[in-house]
Amino acid sequence: MSLAPPEPRSAAPSAGGPDPATLPDPPGPHGRGSLLRAVRFGRNPLTSIHRLKARWGDVVMTQLGRRRLYVLSHPEMARDVLVTSNRNFIKSFALQRARVLLGEGLLTSEGDFHLRQRRLSQPAFHRERVAAMAGTMVRYAEDAADRWSAGMQVDATREMNRVTLAIAGMTLLGVDVEGEADEIGRALTDALGLFDRLHNPLAPLLDRLPVPGTLRMRRARERLDATIYRAIAERRASAEDRDDLLGMLLAARDDEGDGGGMTDLQLRDELLTLFLAGHETTANALAWTWHLLARHPQVEAKLHEELRTVLAGRAPTAADYGALPFTRAVLAESMRLHPPAWTVGRQPLRDFAAGGYRIRAGSIVLLSPWIIHHDARWWGDDVDVFRPERWMRPDFEASLPRFAYFPFGGGPRKCIGEGFAWMEGVLVLATLARRWRLRHLPGADVNAKVGITLRAVGLRMRVEAV
Ligand code: HEM
Repeated sequence: MSLAPPEPRSAAPSAGGPDPATLPDPPGPHGRGSLLRAVRFGRNPLTSIHRLKARWGDVVMTQLGRRRLYVLSHPEMARDVLVTSNRNFIKSFALQRARVLLGEGLLTSEGDFHLRQRRLSQPAFHRERVAAMAGTMVRYAEDAADRWSAGMQVDATREMNRVTLAIAGMTLLGVDVEGEADEIGRALTDALGLFDRLHNPLAPLLDRLPVPGTLRMRRARERLDATIYRAIAERRASAEDRDDLLGMLLAARDDEGDGGGMTDLQLRDELLTLFLAGHETTANALAWTWHLLARHPQVEAKLHEELRTVLAGRAPTAADYGALPFTRAVLAESMRLHPPAWTVGRQPLRDFAAGGYRIRAGSIVLLSPWIIHHDARWWGDDVDVFRPERWMRPDFEASLPRFAYFPFGGGPRKCIGEGFAWMEGVLVLATLARRWRLRHLPGADVNAKVGITLRAVGLRMRVEAV
């Protein structure tokens, strides 16, 4: 049976401390009922994690089916897992499963191969490269702004997905997917359906059976492969030197390693990974932002004031990015309350210690930006309040404990697209918000759909002119 709940405790990890095997297991619900717990957890993982943390503290162990799962909720522990002891971890089972779809792309690969691919891809994400993509970001946001009209009703999540998908298509592949946006968008959504089984103990079996979800995922993979392989083939044939990510990845040579480039299969894995990792996360960050702005008109008014002053009626450019601190603060605060990647999972290779407890090899370790971003110990009494102003204090970010805010993860597996996402998020928001505001339709029932990302559903909104 479960252990009796102790006082919720806060505990920093033991650095270089005792042999983990001599430490006790953390408290938490383990023992009988593990399958039922797995099913309940699978249905609502965010609520489950939240309850575990509230009841048992910073280090919790639970048993889901055959697997032990640990939730670590102290920023120091996140730092230990992601940075200090990162070599003791590989990606969690969910991402290992994602290889069915993503192959050996950056998100799923491990070890030396990951290092090589990261080295090859990194230059494509340098600051000046990202700045060069700003024009594309603004262009597709302007298309949406032109499409909208006063009184129009929109689903804000779908609209943001459409914009970020078009941006991803052009910046990654140099392809205008606007025409095919619905079809590709559906394929990407179906492909992401793989992750709906994230915490289902039967998932590895289901992935191999011809059940509807698996068949949908396979069809989606074929559809996406067709677009990506066509783009690669056309580019190789034309020998054209383009500035998009495909062009940069094609030209990349591993000067520190074997001097070689990427095969078509490696390019496909990286491009599909970037497509999936890059567009839905940013779309969700923006969708939640519209939701929060509509609920906080006084914040929205400050945002409009900044956009009016800095842009004076014109569309933004990359050069404006640094001059829009409040716009960035709005996005930062939105990702604090609704981090699109709400959890980061790992599998420890060897036992390790966290907060005086033993965490066993081969288990699932979850770090949740959502939990840590909602912890009053780091954020104060107004932790649940949407208050972008907090980011405007000059010393604010420096005063936060490291890993109290980590929407992009950390350490060697930190999001490679972070700079891209900030630029895209700020410019898309600025482009749209300088002309339009969104208001919830009466009775709109906004919910979080918790899969691999935290998706805003039911965001039915009316467009109003600013
Ligand atoms: C708001 C938007 C975004 C959020 C919240 C986000 C979040 C994250 C997080 C938390 C990770 C680390 C996962 C882990 O450690 O297991 C990650 C990794 C990654 N992200 Fe993002 N991301 C965003 C946008 C993007 C964009 C725009 C791209 C590409 C254009 C991208 C590409 C990737 C890739 C390739 C990885 C794997 C990196 C590696 O392991 O070397 N992401 N992202």
